[in-house]
Amino acid sequence: MTPLINCAIGIDDNGTILSVTTPDDPDHAGILSDARLADRLQQMPSHTYLIPGLVDLHIHAPQWPQLGKALDAPLEEWLLKYTFPLEAKFSDIGFATEVYDDLVATLLAHGTTTAVYFGSVDLEPNVVLAKACLKHGQRAIIGKVAMDHPETCPDYYRDATPDDAISLTRAFIQTLAELQAGGQLLVHPAITPRFVPSCTDALLEGLGDLARQTGCHVQTHCAESDWEVAHVKERFGKTDAETLAQFGLMTNKTILAHSNFVTDGDMDSIALHGSAVAHCPLSNAYFANAVFPARRALDRGLKVGLGTDISGGFSPSLFETARTALVASRCACSGTNPNLPQVERGTGEDALTTTEVFWLATKGGAEACALPVGAFETGRQFDALGVRAGDVTSGFRVHASDSHQDIFEKLVLTANVASLSHVWVDGVQIDTA
Ligand code: GUN
Ligand code: FE
Repeated sequence: MTPLINCAIGIDDNGTILSVTTPDDPDHAGILSDARLADRLQQMPSHTYLIPGLVDLHIHAPQWPQLGKALDAPLEEWLLKYTFPLEAKFSDIGFATEVYDDLVATLLAHGTTTAVYFGSVDLEPNVVLAKACLKHGQRAIIGKVAMDHPETCPDYYRDATPDDAISLTRAFIQTLAELQAGGQLLVHPAITPRFVPSCTDALLEGLGDLARQTGCHVQTHCAESDWEVAHVKERFGKTDAETLAQFGLMTNKTILAHSNFVTDGDMDSIALHGSAVAHCPLSNAYFANAVFPARRALDRGLKVGLGTDISGGFSPSLFETARTALVASRCACSGTNPNLPQVERGTGEDALTTTEVFWLATKGGAEACALPVGAFETGRQFDALGVRAGDVTSGFRVHASDSHQDIFEKLVLTANVASLSHVWVDGVQIDTA
């Protein structure tokens, strides 16, 4: 990672990056003086570092009230005991409005400038979520959750028929287009089969057709837990990834949450389809009892980014998620059982580095969700954070002896919500106070 020192980032009225220059660049002085003359120059205060905004690839919006609790059951029990009853409550639009306003504002304050959300089954609360993103200025991909299987979904919380789920998904896509007619798109729709076990064959097939017809994003869970893998194998005689591919749900705009138990063949198929993995290290510690093989996935050419998986993960912060990914990777690679000799303890693969988890949280995430953000490069949108060192509430401290690489590593490992002095989306600064 080479930090740019005293750089200028030129953006147009739409927030698209036109230039990135440093003082030794011949255009730099001219760009600065033009911006100053036009009264458009914004200078960062000292000890404030600019980084791309964070991209959270996997959030369950209606699980926000459950953050930090109810983590005492395995996935298949947790869904029925806690999560479906909570998500069903979002048919109350007053409740949805209050919760989603708080969720979007909180995630922006934590530096999440792009959020990929699972909504809930009903249509209207998902529109409420989209309006909250537009109101606060958060870039988002949102899906109406599709789930209709009577054996895995309760009567009180499921699509009545596959056709219902498909027509509500179509209606949601249409509503988002109408909400943003004539403007730049900030909120995008995603086709969202919850996961294979919660969908009938007819629904999976219909959603695959819809993905082909519309070219929309697709998001789902894939090979998250032993239970899920066994369930899908028993039903289809195939892996989760093979089943999703069979139904046309593996596209170059598909985000597969978790994917812990994918085979090497699945990984090659995911890479070939141009699909991406949302690595959710924190919830994996609860529901997967495994660590996503991130090194192998990157080596095999998969697109990978990070997800908080609210509320299977208990942190709203992608900084924290990046640190969890780092620690989980180190534990998996070196191993954890002190009763084994060192050489037998872990996978022996190289653990993720600080630079790599930062990349996953920014550019990797952007590429995974096919949006032009995540890096300061011409042609991308200016979604950015100002990170300030030195406040007493911020863990981020810089000392005179620190090199630029030291400062970068300190920022990734120690910055917290109090360190974030500025948040921009599409070049517009957002008030997160
Ligand atoms: N699989 C199906 N639904 C869910 C969910 O809400 N959270 C997680 N972590 N996995 C799921
Ligand atoms: Fe999830």
